[in-house]
Order: sequence, then structure tokens, then C-alpha cells
Amino acid sequence: MSITVVVANPKGGVGKSLTTMMLADGLALTYGARVLVVDLDPQAGVTKSLLGIDAEQELRDRRIGLGAMLQAFARGRDMQLPSHRVAATDLVELESRESGYIDVLPSNHELLGDMADFERSAHRKRRRDRLDVQLANALRAELKKIEREYDIVLVDCPAGPGVLGLAGIRLANHILAPTSLETNAYSTLTDFLKFILADDLDLASHVMVHPLITQYQSTNSIQREMLHHIKEGLAHLNAISRPIPYTAALQNAAAHPGVGSVRTARQKYGNAMADVVGLAKAVVERISQ
Ligand SMILES: Nc1ncnc2c1ncn2[C@@H]1O[C@H](COP(=O)(O)OP(=O)(O)OP(=O)(O)O)[C@@H](O)[C@H]1O
Ligand SMILES: [Mg+2]
Repeated sequence: MSITVVVANPKGGVGKSLTTMMLADGLALTYGARVLVVDLDPQAGVTKSLLGIDAEQELRDRRIGLGAMLQAFARGRDMQLPSHRVAATDLVELESRESGYIDVLPSNHELLGDMADFERSAHRKRRRDRLDVQLANALRAELKKIEREYDIVLVDCPAGPGVLGLAGIRLANHILAPTSLETNAYSTLTDFLKFILADDLDLASHVMVHPLITQYQSTNSIQREMLHHIKEGLAHLNAISRPIPYTAALQNAAAHPGVGSVRTARQKYGNAMADVVGLAKAVVERISQ
């Protein structure tokens, strides 16, 4: 059975999609893990970074991805998740799929319109559950069909308080909450944690939450103070204390060279390779506890 790690924080631009990409690559490369990445964000950041900059439009035209699955649901058809997966092939090391691989359930920017159709259909069927509960239930049933093919399912959530993000966190065994080191990032994170752990979502009993500091610049004394604050203040919530530094290498890695370009992990991540492996190890240590 696969473990589902959901990368979520309602604050935008804190490194959710970059963390998802690093973790997918790090787990597959370091542990030979079989990884499925589910992109729940209409911005399709992780789809573009793992499949190529042209992939969003190309796959949308071929009606492959989460949006097409929601359209199928709206028409009362089977969502057929297995046929909406696309293999990530930008890393030489994973090409053979013998020691680890990454598949992506892609997103595209029309997902918001597809969500509206999902909502109308749910309304027509007079279902009583909240929309995020219905979406989570539908996705959970689909993921069950393929769970034997993966060790880990990584879900990249969009920013904001919307249905897609809420459905995402309902799928979680573990929630990884990247946070940058700005004052308002800290307050958003603490509000988010209180919200996740509130009884009405019924998650507190079976989900573990791990705050993760991203975009850390060790030269900045205010950031050092914030880091200390987060480590101390969130210690009981298992804050992962290995920050992901802000580096040009990671910025480059997030910019995919384009469909069909295959590179080594060293070429992709440069001197940030140690951070990719370190993140995978830190997360594996947490989720296997
Ligand atoms: N540690 C880092 N070093 C360098 N660049 C980074 C780092 N973390 C994030 N970035 C860059 O910052 C930008 C925002 O990161 P990312 O898209 O991962 O955030 P996000 O939380 O997914 O955003 P959104 O809420 O919009 O989905 C991207 O351009 C990304 O490449
Ligand atoms: Mg993102």
C-alpha cells in the first residue's frame, strides 16, 4: 500500500511545487521509490517542471489529466485515473524505470472550469457531502486502483483555501507544509495548522503534519531568528529542521528544459543535489517513524 504525502500551505509561493519536485526526484533517486505525483494546482507548476514546459497545453489538448477526470465525473462516467498518468522522463537515472520512477497525474489551467462542472454535477445529483469531501472520496477510490504500483503518492496542493487544496489534504497520511521565513508566512502556517488539526475536518487523529522551512538564506539574521522561532514554536508538530536553502541551482532545476530533454540529476540540480537527497532522507525518516 502506498503512503500519501500531501504538500500544502495556503500561502502562495512558499516552495510547495519545488518541494514536490525535489521530493519526487530525491525519493526515486535515493531509494528507488516508485512515485506518483498528483498535481492539484491549476497553475500546473509541478506538471511543467516534471514533464516539460509544453506539457500542460499538449496534455490538455489530448484530454489527459485531472481536469479530464473531473469532466468524466461530471458526465457520470468512470474517471479512469490509470489512463491519465504520464511518465516523467527528464532524468537519465530514471529512464529505465528499473530502480525507481515518477509518474505524474497532470493539471492544467482549465482545471478551475472543470471544477465548476464537477460542482454543478455534484449539485444536480443532490449529494449532501461538502464538495471537497466528494472530490477527496472520488480521488481516493481512483488512487486505490493503482496503489500497488507506487510506494508513495505526492500531492501538490494549490495556494488559497479552495476545494482542490482541501480535497488534497483529506487524502493525506502526512502533510508536508513548506513555509518561507517571512513574518506573515509564519502566521499563515500556524493558522493552517490549527485549521488542519481542528476537529471538524476529522484529520487530527490520523494525519501527521511536518512544517518544512524553504527559501532559507543563512546570511540573513532575521531569517535565522525566524528559523529558531519555528523550530522552537513548532517542535511538537515535528518541524523538519533541515531548511531548503534559496539557491540559483534550485531555481534552475525548476525550469524544465523542454519535452524530450533528458539530463542527469547532477546536471538538473548542480550543487543543490545534496539538498535533494537530504530532503528525501529527512522525509523518509519522519514517515517511517
Ligand atoms: N529554495 C529555493 N531556491 C530557489 N528558488 C526557489 C526555492 N523555493 C522556491 N523557489 C522558487 O520560488 C518560486 C515559487 O516556488 P513554488 O512555485 O515552488 O511555490 P508554491 O508554494 O508552489 O507556489 P504557489 O502557491 O503559487 O503554488 C518558484 O519560481 C521557485 O522556483
Ligand atoms: Mg505551487
